[in-house]
Amino acid sequence: MLAAAINPNVGAWRLAPMASEIEAQVVRWIAELAGFPPHGGGLLVSGGNMANMVGFLAARAAVPSHDVRRAGLSGGPRLRVYASEETHTWIHKAADLSGLGTDAITWIRTDARQRMDVTALRAAIERDVEVGARPMLVVGTAGSVSTGAVDPLPEIAAVCKQAGAWFHVDGAYGGFAALAAGAPPDLRGLALADSVALDPHKWLYAPLEAGCTLVRRPGALRDAFSYHPAYYHFGQEATNYLDLGPQNSRGFRALKVWLALQHAGRSGCLRMIEDDMRLSRRLYERVAEHSELEACTQELSITTFRYVPHDLSSHAGSREVAAYLDALNRDLLERVQNSGEAFVSNAVVDGRYLLRACIVNFHTGEDDVDALPAIVARLGREADASMRAAGSFPFRTRP
Ligand SMILES: Cc1ncc(COP(=O)(O)O)c(C=O)c1O
Repeated sequence: MLAAAINPNVGAWRLAPMASEIEAQVVRWIAELAGFPPHGGGLLVSGGNMANMVGFLAARAAVPSHDVRRAGLSGGPRLRVYASEETHTWIHKAADLSGLGTDAITWIRTDARQRMDVTALRAAIERDVEVGARPMLVVGTAGSVSTGAVDPLPEIAAVCKQAGAWFHVDGAYGGFAALAAGAPPDLRGLALADSVALDPHKWLYAPLEAGCTLVRRPGALRDAFSYHPAYYHFGQEATNYLDLGPQNSRGFRALKVWLALQHAGRSGCLRMIEDDMRLSRRLYERVAEHSELEACTQELSITTFRYVPHDLSSHAGSREVAAYLDALNRDLLERVQNSGEAFVSNAVVDGRYLLRACIVNFHTGEDDVDALPAIVARLGREADASMRAAGSFPFRTRP
């Protein structure tokens, strides 16, 4: 409300000096909160997609062999991008909009915990270099959208260094947990990245819209975005945000994040994140204790699980039963969402359709977590009964 009432244009320092300085401070605080070097650069954008795209375009502008911004892609070697199969779909849009095309992405397989397989990454880069292509960018994920998996970021950083590739980390969801107690140690590896995307409107609880791109080298964003037409006379002595990102006119997104950080402080933010992770682990345990639920994964504040009727639990490996369980849990998801009692989303892990509880709400408490398994099991029984009545059950007689 304050930002809308003041309505500054945070595209240039001269237009909004106070708001520009507040944004600069927010960017530094976000870097400190995530353990990223605070004296690089960065800016606020609309959300995770844009924050990642800005990192992607910074990587494209940093290709040493030719001036991509001027000459386009035809003026140099074929550029390649590497990302794990669990990478969020922003990368499709980035590859598409940047002109590289989605075929420029090499999808790197993941291990049993949905983390990028770094041996496969190394091999893919070697193959591309042999045929004259240029490894432009490797994307590591710090908290994947489906399960919260954290890629082996320090190992990926070492591969990037050796290959001369830009290292971008998508920490839109998980980045703020980097310094939290109980977070995977690999998360701290985001400090080694050339650029990082973080989403204050996810785990920093900021109101929509608020994403943030951080870069290690202060000039990296200016090199990727700046143009100086005659009608912009803003001087170089101060930070003019129109030089650092795709927008020229831009609003005062920083104020709400600044106020929230002033209010909760670094320790308050970390405590809320740690609480969410603790609740997620508790949920995993409660689900595992329930005889009709199968606990599947737990990382950061995401727990995945599914409903498995008693009589199918020892047949879940059969193809028909697996297909039935997928259909059953798809139906169950709708029932849970429509019930108004709880809200979960879905994930597909190793081909299985799962329910996904991602806790990024400081109002969520132990009572909510403890209530969820019984709600899901009750609605699961209802879904199972109606699917069997409709003839969808995979066995003619009970197994
Ligand atoms: C890991 C990850 N990256 C990027 C995004 C995209 O963020 P946004 O919806 O804010 O654009 C998401 C959203 O869920 C995400 O989980």
